[in-house]
Amino acid sequence: MSNTAKFDLDGTVYEFPTLEGCEGEKAIDISTLRSKTGYITLDDGYGNTGSCSSAITFIDGDKGILRYRGIPIEELAEKSTFIEVAYLLIYGHLPKRSEMRKFSDMLTENQILHENMKHHFEGFPDHSHPMAMLSSMINASSCFYPGLMGPASRDRFDKHAARLISQVRTIAAFSYRKSRGLPITYPKPAYKYTPNFLHMMFSEPYAEYEPKVEVLRALDLIFLLHADHEQNCSTSTVRMVASSQANLFASAAAGVCALWGPLHGGANQAVIEMLQEIHTSGDDGRRFIEEAKDKNSGKRLMGFGHRVYRNYDPRAKIIKGACDALFKALKISDPLLEIAQRLEDAALHDSYFVERKLYPNVDFYSGIIMRAIGIPTEMFTVLFAIGRMPGWIANFKEIIEDPKSRINRPRQVYVGPTLSHYVPMAEREE
Ligand code: ACO
Repeated sequence: MSNTAKFDLDGTVYEFPTLEGCEGEKAIDISTLRSKTGYITLDDGYGNTGSCSSAITFIDGDKGILRYRGIPIEELAEKSTFIEVAYLLIYGHLPKRSEMRKFSDMLTENQILHENMKHHFEGFPDHSHPMAMLSSMINASSCFYPGLMGPASRDRFDKHAARLISQVRTIAAFSYRKSRGLPITYPKPAYKYTPNFLHMMFSEPYAEYEPKVEVLRALDLIFLLHADHEQNCSTSTVRMVASSQANLFASAAAGVCALWGPLHGGANQAVIEMLQEIHTSGDDGRRFIEEAKDKNSGKRLMGFGHRVYRNYDPRAKIIKGACDALFKALKISDPLLEIAQRLEDAALHDSYFVERKLYPNVDFYSGIIMRAIGIPTEMFTVLFAIGRMPGWIANFKEIIEDPKSRINRPRQVYVGPTLSHYVPMAEREE
């Protein structure tokens, strides 16, 4: 690889250093472009822009590779747990037994919300979307932990990171209970992370929820598969907010807001709504595929396509397998699963999707698993947020530990009116 890139601009040749990541991805360092040439780059949607160097997650979208801290997602899905993966992402290595015990204890110690936080839930109208409650409540948590406001020390970071991973699950379950007018169920210290979440979601004062092992494994896997995905929309948002030295909770709340949209984490809810619409209309999927190809229809095949993957999303492959295994183990069926399988098959053999390299992404089958577990549709993206929290925290940590970190501040190409002057109201034409 050449060490420099040469640009010929207005007759002058400029040189810029090139660099190569540890997996061979190549970049041109243009940090001096504007000062040297007066030009900036324009990259709508950031499809070609590296916003940072990061040591957390590696993706090769053409080959369908995803690795957390170097470890293939397939190995982690088979052998690890969500909480072990959370440690791996945040601290950069697989935990030793003692580290795992300490981390797990910190999660348990920090799982209960400040009692006054409960009053905030009372203020939300019934049927509020749990994503709105989740982002508001994570942000409101900043008020209860003054230590968040100081400089981010290692000790404080560890505690706040554990608190956030643990409490996002408590807030999520409380939000659901509140949105359904149900009494809040407190976490149980004896329960591990995923069983505790299901307990807070579904136990009633008069009846303890007892999840099946297959259900626990499937949900833990969903959290694990969502744990990080390098510089996606919500993680970039977290890094953007963190770059201003805003605290961890404020940065994570911003991540939740970015995740909510249907083109990002909200796609898992949108997929089920799409499948339900197809089912109700009596379509076998063929009509919908035609509509998804028509730009004027305003419809897309939700759960298909990805900015980075131009191949099968490796998480989708794992989730599809887990979905089949769960349905078999629970001896259940779902007409929406059959529609999803038909849609996938049709799209993978349709030139529109083949030419554009549109494959199923992580959201295509995750909603079907969550539905089988009994998670209500409006909670799907909330579960994505619970899963993504360790990734956001790991990215936050990279920012605060980087001595060269600067506030993120992109530029723009201005295309509005050129100089014009203020006209008093009386002189403006009606
Ligand atoms: N259905 C139909 N057509 C699609 C789809 C789709 N799901 N996705 C992309 N296309 C088409 C576009 O219309 C475009 O066609 P054109 O070249 O003829 O104009 C082409 O494929 C490229 O699409 P872009 O929108 O430019 O791709 P981009 O990288 O900007 O968007 C995105 C990626 C947002 C994921 C897109 O594929 C999409 O909207 N998918 C559906 C929503 C979804 O599943 N989101 C979840 C993503 S994964 C995640 O966030 C966890």
